[in-house]
Amino acid sequence: MMEVIAEQVHLPQQRLVACWEAIKVAPGVRERLLSQAVLAFTLRRKLSFEEAPIHGLIVLFGPPGTGKTTLARGLANEIAKALTPPEATLVAIDPHALASIAPGQTQKEVTRLFQQTLPELASSGPVIVLLDEVDTLVADRHRLSLEANPIDVHRATDAALVGLDRLCQSHPNVLLLATTNFPQALDRSLLSRADLIEEIGLPDEQARTQIIAEMLQHLARHWPALEALKREISFFAAASEGVDGRRLRKTFIAAIASSLETARDPNQLKPTHIIAALQGLRRDMQAESEERHRLEALWSHDLHPHGA
Ligand SMILES: Nc1ncnc2c1ncn2[C@@H]1O[C@H](COP(=O)(O)OP(=O)(O)OP(=O)(O)O)[C@@H](O)[C@H]1O
Ligand SMILES: [Mg+2]
Repeated sequence: MMEVIAEQVHLPQQRLVACWEAIKVAPGVRERLLSQAVLAFTLRRKLSFEEAPIHGLIVLFGPPGTGKTTLARGLANEIAKALTPPEATLVAIDPHALASIAPGQTQKEVTRLFQQTLPELASSGPVIVLLDEVDTLVADRHRLSLEANPIDVHRATDAALVGLDRLCQSHPNVLLLATTNFPQALDRSLLSRADLIEEIGLPDEQARTQIIAEMLQHLARHWPALEALKREISFFAAASEGVDGRRLRKTFIAAIASSLETARDPNQLKPTHIIAALQGLRRDMQAESEERHRLEALWSHDLHPHGA
């Protein structure tokens, strides 16, 4: 069982404060998440599920690299700080570990997780469960075709849904934070159980400005000449439209790595290096998107070979 639990830590943890602060999101998102989460603990302690049907499930969805996992970890920490007493256990489930268990076993393991392991943990205090990439665990049964997806997946999804329902109703001490890139691949009955579904989209110009400013701030602490690049922040922000937070941060590293001179002495980094790195990134993204469209076209042809 232990292998499906990728991590189990006591909260709050100082190192997780950075997770909450690092992710730049639209105004209101952070507060909405935190208040819903805190409510899930406080209200469920006082009212029964019949009185207040709160499942204790929050779903974050959005494209890759937009900070969902990081934000969820930071959120867990903030929730713990807001509880009385200020503590909780964070349990991160590795969905791929669950999915890669021997055929026929997944369902058993899922049931054990929801009906034994998590309830046991919850008996000694609040538990926040991070279900990262939840689509691998709760795939939409309506979309799965039987040939492509073994019956085991259906059973595991059923087991997860049943387990989730029981856990939520009988254990007000448990909150599930789920993330996914593909909300459309999730079983609808899971989404219908969510108390809050929050889209974490690509960073807008304001968020990109904040990310870039923070990035330059970190770098300038070690290489003071980079202070001068801060004048170009709005230019970089405009040039990085459509780029996710993860790649945006990486692009600054890529810019430094783009020549031996800047790699040896990052103080030599000029705006042109950064713009060139951003342009390179945009080209890669364009190629990726073309490749994706090509695959999607093939895929839909496979599914509907006669154009149906
Ligand atoms: N909005 C953002 N603001 C600041 N940094 C960001 C943002 N989005 C992503 N990042 C950076 O990218 C890193 C990776 O993000 P994370 O793994 O949380 O994304 P994700 O949405 O879970 O991606 P995936 O869908 O691929 O799992 C973060 O640690 C952070 O450095
Ligand atoms: Mg993630």
